[in-house]
Amino acid sequence: MIGGVDMPETNNIVIVGAQWGDEGKGKVIDHLAAGADVVARFQGGDNAGHTVVYGANVFKLHHIPSGILNPSTLCLLGNGMVINPLVLVQELTELEKRGIDTANLRISAKAHLVLVYHQDLDEANETFLGEKKIGTTRRGIGPAYADKVLRRGIRAIDMTGIDSFHDRLSEVLPLQNRILREIYNHSGYDLAELVEFYRPALERLGPLVTDVALLLDEQIAAGKKVLFEGAQGALLDIDHGTYPFVTSSSTVAAAASSGTGLGVRHLTQVLGVLKAYTTRVGEGPFPSEDSSEAGDLLRQLGNEYGTTTGRPRRCGWFDAVIARYAARINGLTGLAVTKLDVLSGMEIINMAVAYQYRGQKIRNFPMSIEELDQCTPVYETFPGWDEDLSRVRRFGDLPEAARQYLKAIEEAVGVKVELVSVGPDRSQTIICPGSPLTTWISKNG
Ligand code: IMP
Repeated sequence: MIGGVDMPETNNIVIVGAQWGDEGKGKVIDHLAAGADVVARFQGGDNAGHTVVYGANVFKLHHIPSGILNPSTLCLLGNGMVINPLVLVQELTELEKRGIDTANLRISAKAHLVLVYHQDLDEANETFLGEKKIGTTRRGIGPAYADKVLRRGIRAIDMTGIDSFHDRLSEVLPLQNRILREIYNHSGYDLAELVEFYRPALERLGPLVTDVALLLDEQIAAGKKVLFEGAQGALLDIDHGTYPFVTSSSTVAAAASSGTGLGVRHLTQVLGVLKAYTTRVGEGPFPSEDSSEAGDLLRQLGNEYGTTTGRPRRCGWFDAVIARYAARINGLTGLAVTKLDVLSGMEIINMAVAYQYRGQKIRNFPMSIEELDQCTPVYETFPGWDEDLSRVRRFGDLPEAARQYLKAIEEAVGVKVELVSVGPDRSQTIICPGSPLTTWISKNG
């Protein structure tokens, strides 16, 4: 009872990446979306790429939550996102062509747009940085967030009428053109042409724009179950990640509140998704990276190529130091360990349990990348297993060595493993005994 009003029980899960993105969140979200009434994204844009495998169907989604494959699930794009209207329309068209009903998608009026000049600026910044580049997805994410903070962004509300889009663009385009022309030797854009260029996207997306924060509040008041879908991962967080080799949004669980406009008290469960090993795309430090045969084998067996850019991912061993850090900054209540099947056949499995830093063994993630660069991982070695895990559906049916390895992850991170993924398909998922996720999955649970 709050202020004399009965408050409905909340039953919401925030799912976040607990490494450098690409942990297989799409698959986990897709599985758990079966129990959700609402799936909401709260940050990032089309830099994210989720591959969802459903039987013979493979869906590659960038903005749209995987929940869209579930016809009764409401899918929300929150105010914390940056949305590329052209890519979003493409995604919708592709889904519709394959018979997926997309009527349940809504876009926050306050989300910002990624427009062509943001992509040009991303490209130009990266080229300018040369060897020191961030390794961005070149989707214009950083420049769009920069414009938001500089208060010269264009928002989804501006897509609801061609006149308001024209008016807002006329305010911001002269400066963008000047930057493009004078700094980057680019010819710039003509206002009228740009408005026409976006007209079809505006017509398609405008009707989907709404007050997502209010809608979410109403859904929660009606006792609906909400799944918050994080993109990227803890180590790419603009504040807590390996700055400057990070993305431009807040990727931690708290952003689910600010990025949708929902109060923090509704966020009770936070599931961190971790691969059973570690990968990273883009530049920046990666202490447990393995540049030898083991790293190549992980890339080959795990098919480690970026969904958005197709770049080969850098691969290495599970790093408990970053996982502990991710657990702390997110307040993780459970872990989902993905791609455990990829480790089958490895004679031994290494896990970084600490770092060696200036002659000392440290267990906490360092404050800066300069310190991180001087860290070398301290490995503990675990026996591997040969069994194919792809058909295992119960925790107890995993080989003893695999269970021991999961137990070691739990102990090193200090958070329970609640879900294990043993293959890309929705069905290749194990919910661990005693996990609250068991009741979540049944929609009325
Ligand atoms: P941006 O987000 O495109 O600006 O890229 C900044 C950094 O984040 C680069 O290292 C990208 O490779 C990385 N990144 C962005 N989105 C993802 C993602 O969804 N998964 C993994 N890495 C990502």
